[in-house]
Amino acid sequence: MTALVLPDPRWFPSWAATVADFGEEFMHGSGAWVLDHPVLPTEAACEELVAALAVSALGDPEDDKVPSTYYWITDGSGSGEEVIGFLNLRHELNDWLLEEGGHIGYSVRPARRRQGHATRALALGVRRAGELGIDRVLVTCDSDNLASARTIEAGGGVFEDVRNGKRRYWIVVPAAALRPTT
Ligand SMILES: CC(C)(COP(=O)(O)OP(=O)(O)OC[C@H]1O[C@@H](n2cnc3c(N)ncnc32)[C@H](O)[C@@H]1OP(=O)(O)O)[C@@H](O)C(=O)NCCC(=O)NCCS
Repeated sequence: MTALVLPDPRWFPSWAATVADFGEEFMHGSGAWVLDHPVLPTEAACEELVAALAVSALGDPEDDKVPSTYYWITDGSGSGEEVIGFLNLRHELNDWLLEEGGHIGYSVRPARRRQGHATRALALGVRRAGELGIDRVLVTCDSDNLASARTIEAGGGVFEDVRNGKRRYWIVVPAAALRPTT
């Protein structure tokens, strides 16, 4: 079953396999960009990234960085629970996120694609957004990213427009997932 977990070095073996599987491909939602060097599938890099993500998640108003939560997507349908991808939930939208980036970014390792994981992870991410009091979630993708567009549409995304080459969709958070406001 697809799940979202918080980054933790205890996931190192499957995290490393996932990083190796991506190779040179950009790992959307992973936060790998918070380091100033490529992330290698080593135990030291895993620990370094987990520590850096904890800081990055706090945001930085001086640098127009909003708070966010980094998740690792896991699956337990094989021989054991393993990391298979990444999802980043931004808690608010700055100007760039509203135009292009959206609330949620994600990726699934190449070997585990087309098994429904992104669809299920996005649904879980939308529920987590609801727990933060976000009632509709912006999700975007490059205009030519058919896989991501279909993922968003499978998650109930309602297409709004294209801005700077990004297709923009809004997903309404189910009422049952919304944090009570009173
Ligand atoms: C986009 C991505 C996350 C999809 O992950 P996934 O686990 O394979 O997606 P799912 O299995 O949940 O499939 C979701 C939908 O996309 C479709 N799909 C998946 N890969 C596809 C492809 N290569 N071409 C066409 N459709 C595709 C599936 O058929 C499904 O559509 P359906 O619900 O109409 O059947 C994955 O391809 C990926 O990591 N890509 C690179 C990173 C990326 O682009 N992230 C998004 C940034 S906006």
